[in-house]
Amino acid sequence: MGHDNRCIGVFDSGIGGLTVVRELQRRLPSETVVYFGDTARVPYGIKSIQAVTAFARQDCEFLLRFDPKLIVVACNTASAAAIDDLEQRYDVPICGVVRPGAMEAVRASGGRPIAVIATEATVNSDAYRRAIHAVRPGIIVHQRACPLFVGAVEEGRSADDPIVEALAADYLGPLRLLQPAVLVLGCTHYPLLRPAIARAIGPAAALVDSAEQTAATVAAILERRHALTDRSGAGGLTCYVSDNPQRFREVGQRFLGHSVVDVTWVSPEEFLAGEVHTV
Ligand code: DGL
Repeated sequence: MGHDNRCIGVFDSGIGGLTVVRELQRRLPSETVVYFGDTARVPYGIKSIQAVTAFARQDCEFLLRFDPKLIVVACNTASAAAIDDLEQRYDVPICGVVRPGAMEAVRASGGRPIAVIATEATVNSDAYRRAIHAVRPGIIVHQRACPLFVGAVEEGRSADDPIVEALAADYLGPLRLLQPAVLVLGCTHYPLLRPAIARAIGPAAALVDSAEQTAATVAAILERRHALTDRSGAGGLTCYVSDNPQRFREVGQRFLGHSVVDVTWVSPEEFLAGEVHTV
């Protein structure tokens, strides 16, 4: 059996992609992860497809400096806007979060309607609907943007916060009436509000977490390519951010489930042009 001890590169618009890293660490604890969070330009979820695509290319190119064996586009918005472009542009295998979430949603739905909640840009791109229809054409897909969830999570509000409960009721009430069999959590931040979302959509809908499905897909890709690490137990997470490493450390802990120790700020000059700042 072959192996590959290079890192897995992961990028996101900011902090949220740490929910994907958490799932990767759960499933593949021996892998080394290099993470880039574009905290200077977050949020991506209200920006145009063109802008998000340009940012996603730059994020990928930054990660390519670390010679990753695979890049995970942890941001749903960047996956929705740019996954085809990135796959065509770079030789390294690239795994987004939309297709794994869509595939699991189809499986769990048994052909019944699927609801997707995500950022405005992800909903406007129609990427989840296209990915679902690529697996199973004709299935009914309802989509709803829930933009205020992102700010609520970053502010530290949890699923039992009354403001979150009110937001969830407002966003998900109309979807609940449509009786979907499955609800896809199509944004990095939503797993943190899972209990409130589950209560608001009701017990008839199964929840699909794109982060969990993505970690499973990454494991399958690496296994198939004989590219898992053989450094058993080594693991490790190194983070780079384009702004405010202190906030990333503080807020990131909630997303990752443990403390985020190794965070380095990358200046715009370094990010766009060359070497990595390592102080
Ligand atoms: N990471 C984004 C996503 O999953 C949410 C935050 C943002 O809008 O940048 O869509």
